[in-house]
Amino acid sequence: MTDEQINNLKEALQFSPNNAVLRKMLADALFNLTRYNEAENEFKTLIETDASSSAKTGLAKCFYLLNKIEAAHILLDEILKNEPDHAEANFYFAKACFSKGDYKQAKQSYDFASGLNDDFEDLDFEQQINQKLRESGMAVANLTENLDENDEPFFADMEKPKINFSDVGGMDKVKEEIALKVIHPLTNPEIYKAFGKKIGGGIMLYGPPGCGKTHIARATAGEIKANFISVGISDVLDMWQGNSEKNLHSLFQKARNSTPCVLFFDEVDAMGASRSDMRSNSSRFLINQFLEEMDGVKHSNEGVLIMAATNSPWYVDAAFRRSGRFDRIIFVSPPDIKAREEILNIYLKDKPTDNIDVKAIVKNTEEFTGADMKALVDIAIESKLPESIKQNKVLPINTTDLKKAVSLVKSPTKEWFSSAKNYALYSNEGGQYDDILKYLNIKK
Ligand SMILES: Nc1ncnc2c1ncn2[C@@H]1O[C@H](COP(=O)(O)OP(=O)(O)OP(=O)(O)O)[C@@H](O)[C@H]1O
Ligand SMILES: [Mg+2]
Repeated sequence: MTDEQINNLKEALQFSPNNAVLRKMLADALFNLTRYNEAENEFKTLIETDASSSAKTGLAKCFYLLNKIEAAHILLDEILKNEPDHAEANFYFAKACFSKGDYKQAKQSYDFASGLNDDFEDLDFEQQINQKLRESGMAVANLTENLDENDEPFFADMEKPKINFSDVGGMDKVKEEIALKVIHPLTNPEIYKAFGKKIGGGIMLYGPPGCGKTHIARATAGEIKANFISVGISDVLDMWQGNSEKNLHSLFQKARNSTPCVLFFDEVDAMGASRSDMRSNSSRFLINQFLEEMDGVKHSNEGVLIMAATNSPWYVDAAFRRSGRFDRIIFVSPPDIKAREEILNIYLKDKPTDNIDVKAIVKNTEEFTGADMKALVDIAIESKLPESIKQNKVLPINTTDLKKAVSLVKSPTKEWFSSAKNYALYSNEGGQYDDILKYLNIKK
């Protein structure tokens, strides 16, 4: 477009300033002439009458090219929330992320954009990202193709937990189910085999935050002196497409090479979550890969106990719950009064205390989680520290300290139950969430 045509457009817009089509033409023309400052102004005006993603993307591109990276990043993020498949927005988002030094996200968004639309293939840019990823020590998909099977995935640590079931207060039913489902098959494989019981599958724990899901998974490993590998699914998903399957495989291999081993997947809901998710294709792929590894078709999972935890079982892909997989789904409820007493005693065990009336404290901790009970002890100890330092001696904590702490703790379970209740009432296929209703005393 020539200068003259641009002037004509501007003139026309003086007569009809709200004409979005004309405004868009003008903004695009200015952009193409690399007059980004002027284009920015036109896009801003345009958005007042037309808040479409194409107008917003135009503005975001101006921001980016004018080196207003933060503004571009925020705007693109917003566009992608509403329209995750917007190729151009993904492309510029990748650029903005790159400028901000978030190379992993840059790679992911770039791959996604170029996969959606060839126009956004930019080999120079791709090389730059890969270079940065290499420099920062992260594996790049095509570099790790020959990755040795036994190479360690870099996001998983292995430990031998020192805690066991005696460090877990309450949860008697959960302990029993874990014993039946995973511990006995491991310690008495002949008996299970003799009865023709297939060993394998896993346990999925669900419930409100802080009630001990992660804690009991770790204690399970300690109970049978097994290795423990804990991995957040979001860590796996965070790996960009193409490489996550490899990481998942080497993760399982690591567990298979370290039997007995508890392989624990935390926040497993993230894997099946939100279909409109930007990475939906790759996550579908990943789910299949996960199920294949879990089924142990190519490599035996003997001696590997697979456990998973989630706050939102309703988001977990149904394929996970099929028989032989996570076919035991266990509700980890907040501790009842007896369990709260036990938990408090566990955390007071090695602390300097003065005649504590545990029963009196626990009475006022309705709805507290295990984490809350632990917090009571932490808060009480903290309150004693300044005075102890001053007097240069250890002052034991007492009932009053703990009672004071009770008033400071705010439990998060109410919120969880208010949404869980809806799932249990209206999306309770096969009675899978009956335990929630039972806990809430709701009759079906
Ligand atoms: N039953 C319990 N016995 C002893 N300690 C507990 C118990 N429940 C929770 N805790 C303590 O609270 C902390 C937090 O619990 P944990 O991380 O296991 O909760 P979670 O259910 O996994 O929560 P989230 O859903 O947020 O991951 C644990 O590290 C542990 O110290
Ligand atoms: Mg947890």
